[in-house]
Amino acid sequence: MAQVLGIETSCDETAAAVVRLDGAQATVLSNIVQSQTADHKAYGGVVPEIAARAHVDRVDHIVSEALVQSGCSLGEMDAIAATCGPGLIGGVMVGMMTGKALALATGTPFLPINHLEGHALSPRLAADCPFPYLLLLVSGGHCQFLDVRDLGDYRRLGTTIDDAAGEAFDKTAKALGLGFPGGPALERAACAGDAGAIALPRPLLDREGLDMSFAGLKTAAARTAAAAPLTARRTADIAAAFQAAVADILRIKAARALESGRFKRFVVAGGVAANETIRAALAETANAHGADLIAPPLRYCTDNAAMIALAGAERFLRGDRGDLTVVARARWPLDEAAAARAPAYGGGQRGAKA
Ligand code: KG4
Ligand code: ZN
Repeated sequence: MAQVLGIETSCDETAAAVVRLDGAQATVLSNIVQSQTADHKAYGGVVPEIAARAHVDRVDHIVSEALVQSGCSLGEMDAIAATCGPGLIGGVMVGMMTGKALALATGTPFLPINHLEGHALSPRLAADCPFPYLLLLVSGGHCQFLDVRDLGDYRRLGTTIDDAAGEAFDKTAKALGLGFPGGPALERAACAGDAGAIALPRPLLDREGLDMSFAGLKTAAARTAAAAPLTARRTADIAAAFQAAVADILRIKAARALESGRFKRFVVAGGVAANETIRAALAETANAHGADLIAPPLRYCTDNAAMIALAGAERFLRGDRGDLTVVARARWPLDEAAAARAPAYGGGQRGAKA
């Protein structure tokens, strides 16, 4: 059994959690997330300097709160885990240094966690989800298909070659005057729209493999928005057409990934997984390929520290005793070999993630 404190500060959520792992059975003893949405709202996106300062102001309090709610003391932790990348480097450093300081002060192992590994393992917080499984990680900073073979053994099967899907949602929502964060606002607007009323492209579907692209779709939606007055009707139609296009891209690529029949479980994680249209499209695709769709509860889908604590606990139980000398990394691909193979494009830069 392992009891681990997790800390997450890689983007715009300051988070801490305590997770107990007994075999494969995870119990989340506390899971505190403080979002910075209000701090960034005026800018229509996450401002790295503001994010880092907000993490500095809040992280101590959030860590104390996570310990109090868990009913455990710091001395009862077997390890302290913190996100050490990828992400906005100023923010990553805040959580990492906090974790290192607590580990050093208590003589507890410090486990540096890749934020993407946290997402990859997140379904195991709430469900029996043995390896291997197909993961679609779809958020504001990432959009990739991963073959999750085992702890520490991940193959990237495909990635966005430009924007992450969530980033495209946020920017399209901004072009439609729907505010920030854009995903939920766009989904609400789309409810009243007709997806068939506006034609938008579905980039890269003609290319083999699982790479994706959303920049051209985002630009086409923004151009359409600028081309004529944005009545409520037109806004709703563009929102619906955009959402349908994203759902189509994810559904068609997911079908390709599932075609081999190798995966019996298909996990979708990340903030965009909250979208009902997208979730329904993916559930139908999984079903058609004889796989179960596992969508973790939203609190574990969006950025949180429970997934970081779980990754730490899984590593601790495998004998990892950590490292205090690691440095924070803005880029840290889960599958280094795939990252080396990939052409030199940006790929989901919102949080400068991998
Ligand atoms: O996983 P997350 O909380 O943070 C990271 O980006 O790491 O994901 C946030 C993203 C944002 O881009 C947000 O607009 C998008 O997820 N999102 C949605 C919905 N809810 C959140 N996109 C589409 N539909 C939604 N209902
Ligand atoms: Zn994330």
